[in-house]
Amino acid sequence: MTKTILITGSTDGIGLLTATKLAADGHNVLLHGRSQPKLEAAATAVGGDVETYAADLSDLSAVRELAESIRAKHGKLDVLINNAGVLKTPQTVLENGQDIRFVVNTLAPFLLTELLLPIIPADGRVVNLSSAAQAPVNLKAMQGNVPLTDMEAYAQSKLAITIWTREWSKSLSDAPVMVAVNPGSLLASKMVKEGFGLTGNDMNIGADILIDAALGERFADASGAYFDNDSGAFSDPHAAALDKGHAADVMNTIKELVNQTN
Ligand SMILES: NC(=O)c1ccc[n+]([C@@H]2O[C@H](COP(=O)([O-])OP(=O)(O)OC[C@H]3O[C@@H](n4cnc5c(N)ncnc54)[C@H](OP(=O)(O)O)[C@@H]3O)[C@@H](O)[C@H]2O)c1
Repeated sequence: MTKTILITGSTDGIGLLTATKLAADGHNVLLHGRSQPKLEAAATAVGGDVETYAADLSDLSAVRELAESIRAKHGKLDVLINNAGVLKTPQTVLENGQDIRFVVNTLAPFLLTELLLPIIPADGRVVNLSSAAQAPVNLKAMQGNVPLTDMEAYAQSKLAITIWTREWSKSLSDAPVMVAVNPGSLLASKMVKEGFGLTGNDMNIGADILIDAALGERFADASGAYFDNDSGAFSDPHAAALDKGHAADVMNTIKELVNQTN
């Protein structure tokens, strides 16, 4: 059956490849990116009459507008893939003092999910991009008060998205599956080339697991789970995600930061 699927960060890397494959399978893929020229190039690459949405996810008011434009056109969204992410960026702190890595990798997908959840059906899915790189979250750093290196911020922001996936899913019933996925490590994207100077592994490894998480049977009862595609199995995330106190602190801080931009 044809599904309507929004993939954030589908102008490059794993997101673009996933979009191309899903569109080739006949799904109605909504492309998202921050750069209009890259969105146009992605639309041409994906082919067909594909919708595009521009929004810089480091700006939570742009996230709100993005959700509004999608809801203005769609009464139902079957799958949201929160794929956009950042590791290296020339600017790490936003004008409002927040750390851009946490905003793009953790807060923006949280807010987008919150705003789109009303149009995602109970048999729909929210697929969140985690990573093998996970580290306990320094709450002060998430608030923008402690500078972090690229890798520290990345790993903490990826644990934070894994935590909100787990915690949020616990409070939902008769609701879409919410799952966190490490697509596989060192896949050959721009992020990996810029971050590690490596050519990287076949990106199909990542795209194929995202498609499985979005549509596949084995993810149908996986709400709250973490799938580690390095081992090819559901597994526990970093121990800090299982620590109830840490998870509660992270959830409270995420909500506080998102609400600050209301
Ligand atoms: N590659 C890996 O080995 C690997 C491993 C684990 C997890 N992941 C995760 O997989 C996801 C995809 O990464 P990738 O490797 O495919 O990296 P990528 O090629 O750099 O793609 C990232 C995508 O996110 C978009 N993006 C970045 N910052 C944004 C912002 N502020 N607003 C809107 N869009 C933004 C990028 O837009 P532009 O095209 O404009 O840059 C691009 O479309 C990320 O969440 C990443 O953390 C990747």
